[in-house]
Amino acid sequence: MRDVAGDDAITSRYVWEVIVSIIRSYGYEEIGLPLLESTELFSRGVGQATDIVEKEMYSFEDRNGKSLSLRPEGTAGCVRACIEKGLIFNQTQRLWYEGPMFRYERPQRGRYRQFQQIGGEIFGVPGPAADAELIQMASSMWLQFGIEHDVSLEINTIGSSAARASYRAALVEYLEPYKAELDGDSQRRLETNPLRILDSKSSKTQHILEAAPTIEEYLDDEAREHFEGLESLLNEMELPYIINPRLVRGLDYYTHTVFEWVTDSIGAQSTICAGGRYDGLVEKLGGRTTPAAGFAIGMDRVVLACEAAQSKMGEKIQYSSVDVYCTVLETRFMGWMLKVAQRLRTDMPGLRVRVDTGGGKLGNQLKRADESGARWALIVGEDEVDENCITVKWLRTDRGQSSVSVDSLVAILEGSRA
Ligand code: HAM
Repeated sequence: MRDVAGDDAITSRYVWEVIVSIIRSYGYEEIGLPLLESTELFSRGVGQATDIVEKEMYSFEDRNGKSLSLRPEGTAGCVRACIEKGLIFNQTQRLWYEGPMFRYERPQRGRYRQFQQIGGEIFGVPGPAADAELIQMASSMWLQFGIEHDVSLEINTIGSSAARASYRAALVEYLEPYKAELDGDSQRRLETNPLRILDSKSSKTQHILEAAPTIEEYLDDEAREHFEGLESLLNEMELPYIINPRLVRGLDYYTHTVFEWVTDSIGAQSTICAGGRYDGLVEKLGGRTTPAAGFAIGMDRVVLACEAAQSKMGEKIQYSSVDVYCTVLETRFMGWMLKVAQRLRTDMPGLRVRVDTGGGKLGNQLKRADESGARWALIVGEDEVDENCITVKWLRTDRGQSSVSVDSLVAILEGSRA
């Protein structure tokens, strides 16, 4: 579990802001969800035989002896909340949530025991348009971060639960004679969760799988139609994808579409966003049958991918927490500067204005202005106060500096925002 400070904190917040504004632009509404849920929610929802429930949850008994768990993911809790609040009965619902998730995994770069997700879930839409729109939404995030060339989309269908049950039986029958040659995890999964053997990292296991039956052979017409529908929407939107017949995902609730975005820029923990359709989960958790699909973005990994893209371009972190940095030549002008700064915040909502309240030499203040990543420094001295002007210094371009009237300051900053 990490502390996130300095540049990491700035980049994380920037990534958060971009993702949240894109999710909102698709008409998704926020839902706040608790960090603690009953353990049973996850064993029923995510699946008893999954790695998450078997060995990764932080579970404990509360004072009444009820088993609770820190949420390892958001979908089960979101579905529970929707059922309890009657949010998905006979209506389409698009929801997003965010916050920390907890998994007792072996920590490494990009894999933490507390990590941040932003998730989006859509309820009530059975067709592939919902899946395609989720994919489009994520891809517009990568574009916004400039990492679109560093990521690729893998998709697959795992069909209906009936198709999966027949496939599961066929896979077990095929693998049984090779049991002794499989890696340890796969031997165990042969009994508990055989589909997960498909994404085993062992090359020997992968070699054995080469001749194994594929889910494709077990799909019914409905599953094929759904997947073809998704493919044609992705083609029409010109969103490139790879069909990965081995992609099954580690959570049991999926049906039909599953997808993952992977990147080779951040090391072994390469999936930055994952999701799929889960038409049976609402019913399984006590609601009425409701088609549903969603994804979760691994925020920590997206931050790593953004940082990797920047260092590839040889750029310093460009995400800053400040737009305008205000300096004064002498402390007696501080009151005047504080007023101008406040006016800017009011007239340009969202603009981040920092006043160097520390004072000292102008040179030192401007150095701090530069380090803050601000685009503009404002400088105030006697002449400026006398003439109701302000000196604007462009910190990221070669435009230099000029003295402008306070009344025209907003227009000038707006004009040079790009
Ligand atoms: P997931 O694949 O378990 O799916 O997690 C989604 C993403 O969270 C992963 O692709 C990864 O980026 C990030 N992630 C997972 N574990 C860690 C970790 N230990 N450290 C850092 N990042 C991590 C779900 O959680 C589903 N609820 C997604 C979903 C929503 N499906 C439908 N709706």
